[in-house]
Amino acid sequence: MSIHTPKIEKKATLTTIAKMKGVEPITMVTAYDALFAQLFDGEVDMILVGDSLNMSFFGKEDTLSATMDQMIYHTQAVCNGAKLPLIVLDMPFGSYSTVDDAIHNATRAYQETNAQAIKIEGGKERAHIVKALTQNSIAVLGHIGLMPQFLRSDGGYKIRGKTQKDIDSLVEDAKALEEAGVFAIVVEGVKSEAAEAITKAVSVPTIGIGAGNTTDGQVLVWSDMFGFFEAFKPKFVKQYCDGAKHIRDGLETYRNEVKAKEFPSKEYTY
Ligand code: KIV
Repeated sequence: MSIHTPKIEKKATLTTIAKMKGVEPITMVTAYDALFAQLFDGEVDMILVGDSLNMSFFGKEDTLSATMDQMIYHTQAVCNGAKLPLIVLDMPFGSYSTVDDAIHNATRAYQETNAQAIKIEGGKERAHIVKALTQNSIAVLGHIGLMPQFLRSDGGYKIRGKTQKDIDSLVEDAKALEEAGVFAIVVEGVKSEAAEAITKAVSVPTIGIGAGNTTDGQVLVWSDMFGFFEAFKPKFVKQYCDGAKHIRDGLETYRNEVKAKEFPSKEYTY
């Protein structure tokens, strides 16, 4: 068995992440359980316990029905598995509609998990909520551009930043969030020129997904990037391994060996 040496040895904090802007690209992936979080520990700067788990792990069509209880349960598991990355709990749809809800639910996130921050979707229209959270000592990762929780109200997943007017609006969103105290901003599903304008406009790091390579970091959903999620594959997802094929190949060998009574052989028998 090979002994694996982690690439990152120090615990990431809000300060170390902030200092990476313009110095070193930030790496972030999602994780939903302790097993995979352990594999990612020491390999990436940040882990997002994304509400995307509602699709990739719970089998739903969108993220909208994820609940606070679900996010807390999975974040506890991730925190058990990974010690070094900065861990962010993604606040589910409906958990931060009002300032009171946001503070109540984000307080649960801090009290019931070891997440260092929470993420909420929304730009200028949600800046007052972000401000209330940061003023109550809760670290917030913003999320602008294509926002999956707006799927139904926006009438689908729409790529943003195609016109100068929209780029200006996204820049305003980012500035409003910076002003409200976010420590970084996820920028999803925008044209690369828009991501560049946003990244230049704010002093906090931007973390892109489907936003080209001008942001200060990148985030990908782990089950997409490792080829486990097969329902659909967005253009921006690079598949770093063919997870589904590895599992199916392994299962086929197992099934054949069990049927042929080759497994368990003597080696695997007490
Ligand atoms: O839920 C999630 O995984 C996310 C990423 C797409 C940024 O919000």
